[in-house]
Amino acid sequence: MIISRQVEPQFNKVNDADIKTFQDILGGDCVLLDEASRTLYGKDETEDLIYPPEVVLIPKDTEAVSLILKHCNERCIPVTPIGARTGLSGGALSVMGGVGLSMHRFDKILDIDIQNLQATVEPGVITQVFQEAVLEKGLFYPPDPASRGSCSLGGNLAESSGGPRAVKYGVTRDYVINLEVVLADGTIMWTGANVLKNATGYDLTRLVVGSEGTLAVITKAVFRLIPRMKFDMLLLVPFSDASKACEAVSATFREGIVPSAMEFMERDALDLVNDFLGLGMTIPEDVQAHLLIEVDGNYEDILFKECEIITAVMEAHGAGEVLFAGNAAEKEKLWMMRRKVAEAVKANSTYKEEDTVVPRFKLPELLKGVKRIGEAYGFKSVCYGHAGDGNLHVNIIKGEMSDKDWDEKLSSGIREIFELVVMLGGTLSGEHGIGLVQRPYMDIVFKERELDLMRGVKKVFDQKGILNPKKIF
Ligand code: LAC
Ligand code: ZN
Repeated sequence: MIISRQVEPQFNKVNDADIKTFQDILGGDCVLLDEASRTLYGKDETEDLIYPPEVVLIPKDTEAVSLILKHCNERCIPVTPIGARTGLSGGALSVMGGVGLSMHRFDKILDIDIQNLQATVEPGVITQVFQEAVLEKGLFYPPDPASRGSCSLGGNLAESSGGPRAVKYGVTRDYVINLEVVLADGTIMWTGANVLKNATGYDLTRLVVGSEGTLAVITKAVFRLIPRMKFDMLLLVPFSDASKACEAVSATFREGIVPSAMEFMERDALDLVNDFLGLGMTIPEDVQAHLLIEVDGNYEDILFKECEIITAVMEAHGAGEVLFAGNAAEKEKLWMMRRKVAEAVKANSTYKEEDTVVPRFKLPELLKGVKRIGEAYGFKSVCYGHAGDGNLHVNIIKGEMSDKDWDEKLSSGIREIFELVVMLGGTLSGEHGIGLVQRPYMDIVFKERELDLMRGVKKVFDQKGILNPKKIF
């Protein structure tokens, strides 16, 4: 295993003198030591994992972050940046204790520049709040994680979150042009420039995005925006064969259409969300999967034409009757159902979520393979996700599996799934990150030399390894 090759940094525990320093920097009420706070900040949405930091610090400006990091770096105390704690790979868990650095008071939208279609924000802003603020000015920020109502932009930046609209518009990384960051030694710097193209040296902006808080702490971000689209249309398409639904996905793109969302939900996902939200929907017996497909643009007649072509593709793949969402309320209901799947699965059973991604044409093979591996190991899986991106969230459900099998055999099953993913040309995570829980599988994707290169990058940014230790590799 790769992990055993690493020399673990020798960290110090937080002592009274450290607390005094933090109180001097922040004031007493932003230094939390009580058990309830430490537990709260010690968990995110990843399974039932809890890793409380020794102290929670809640700075509200870059200078304070800089002073905290400078001190922790000198004292060799680990620091875990914490966003809104909605992550699914354990990226914000304070695995080595130390400081939990909550960024939630960085909650300001500093500027929306409608002349240049850019916005400067702090990382604690809730994603949906930002989306709605730019929408009011006629602009569009497409990254759209299912947890947009509760996740923060900082967390989205840390994991390069995607969501349904990534299929047409790209992920968080594609919208960031510049970042203000604080390095482990307290240095404050900008990674790029507020321009749309930049061939000036290494692209540190794109490197820091998705680095899961292991390279630097993000304190401001400059996003590029696009004009808002005037129209969108939403279709719900039932299939009696889940594999055919997956085949219809790549066929749609081959017709020259790029939907603004193309989501896949297995029957079980819809059943769970139906119960969870108490919707009382009747889903016909023979329906095994749905595709939720959105198109958007500025010309309604073009969208109608695209919906016609999509419907023909779906029918050619054996779809049942296509439901066209007739108004905003219907659209909202369908989107809510889709967004709530993760919560519904979590409420239902002990589970593990994998964020597999393959080239989209390989999706049917991935789905079949996941089921085959599940049968061999005795677990059920609920699969759903961003089919247009080939990004399948595989939720492994404990269900009837014994505790012993769950604890001892499951990781081999997950390993087999990831080996299949890589064999199909894919990789471990499309948008949730590696964090803590996918870390044992990195050797499936990367050779030692490649991992060493990443460790070398980490070392240049953070010589003592204080930033979010035990994550990624
Ligand atoms: C979703 C989250 C789990 O797509 O990524 O619902
Ligand atoms: Zn997702």
